[in-house]
Amino acid sequence: MSAEYALAGRGLHRQFGSGANEVHALAGVDFEAKPGALTVVRGPSGSGKTTLLNLLGGLDRPTSGQAVLGDGRVLSDLSESEVLAIRRESIGYVFQSFGLIPVLSATENIEVPLRLLDTPAKERDERVAEVLDLVGLGRHGHQRPYELSGGQQQRVGIARALVSRPRIVIADEPTGQLDSTTAATIMDLLTQLTHQESIAAIVATHDTLLIDRADEVIELHQGERVSG
Ligand SMILES: Nc1ncnc2c1ncn2[C@@H]1O[C@H](COP(=O)(O)OP(=O)(O)O)[C@@H](O)[C@H]1O
Ligand SMILES: [Mg+2]
Repeated sequence: MSAEYALAGRGLHRQFGSGANEVHALAGVDFEAKPGALTVVRGPSGSGKTTLLNLLGGLDRPTSGQAVLGDGRVLSDLSESEVLAIRRESIGYVFQSFGLIPVLSATENIEVPLRLLDTPAKERDERVAEVLDLVGLGRHGHQRPYELSGGQQQRVGIARALVSRPRIVIADEPTGQLDSTTAATIMDLLTQLTHQESIAAIVATHDTLLIDRADEVIELHQGERVSG
C-alpha cells in the first residue's frame, strides 16, 4: 500500500452494547483515502457507513483498530483536545441535513469554523468570499438558509466544510435530502472540488450517481468490506 494517503483505516472495529445486545457495527475495515480522490462508502442502511465516518472524523473511537492520518498520527492515541484541533484544522464535514444555523446568513455560517480558529477578520473575509465563489454562490452570501433552496443550502454546507482548507472532507449522505437533479449537481461539485483542491473526500451514499464518479468504492455489508 502506498504511503500517499491523507487518512487510513486499519482493521477498524466498533462494537456497541454487550452480551445479547452486542452489535458489531464495523468488523475490521481497512482502506486508504488519498489526496485528490473521492472515496465512496456505500452499503444498505445499517451496514456501518455512519459508524465508519464517525471513527475517521474523530467523533468516535474504535473498539480496536486505528484511524491513521497521513503524517502517521493515530487518532485514538490522541487526547480529546488534540482530536478537536485536528477536526477544526484538517477535516471538513458535510451533513445530510446541511447543519446550518438558521439565524445566520450564508456568509456568517461559513465564517463559523474560522472564528473557532481565531482567523483574523481580513483573512476570514477573503476566505469566505473565495469559497462562496467556489460553490457558485458569490451573490447569495447575505441570504439566510430559509431564503435558499435545498441545493443552495448544501452548497453553503460544502463552502463551510472547505473554508478552513482541510486536507480531508467527510460527508455522510450529503444528497440524502435533495431531489435527483439537484443531487447530481452537488455530486459534480464535490467531485470537482475534490480533484481541484486535492482533498481526500470520503462520502457515504447509496446514490448510484456518486458511485460512477468515485475513485475508490468501499462497499460495506453488515460492518464488513465486501468489495471495491
Ligand atoms: N450508538 C449506537 N448504539 C448501538 N448500536 C448502534 C449505534 N450506532 C450504530 N449502531 C448500530 O450499528 C449498525 C451500523 O449503523 P450505522 O453505522 O448507522 O449504519 P449506516 O450509516 O450504514 O446506516 C446498525 O446495526 C446500528 O443499529
Ligand atoms: Mg448512516
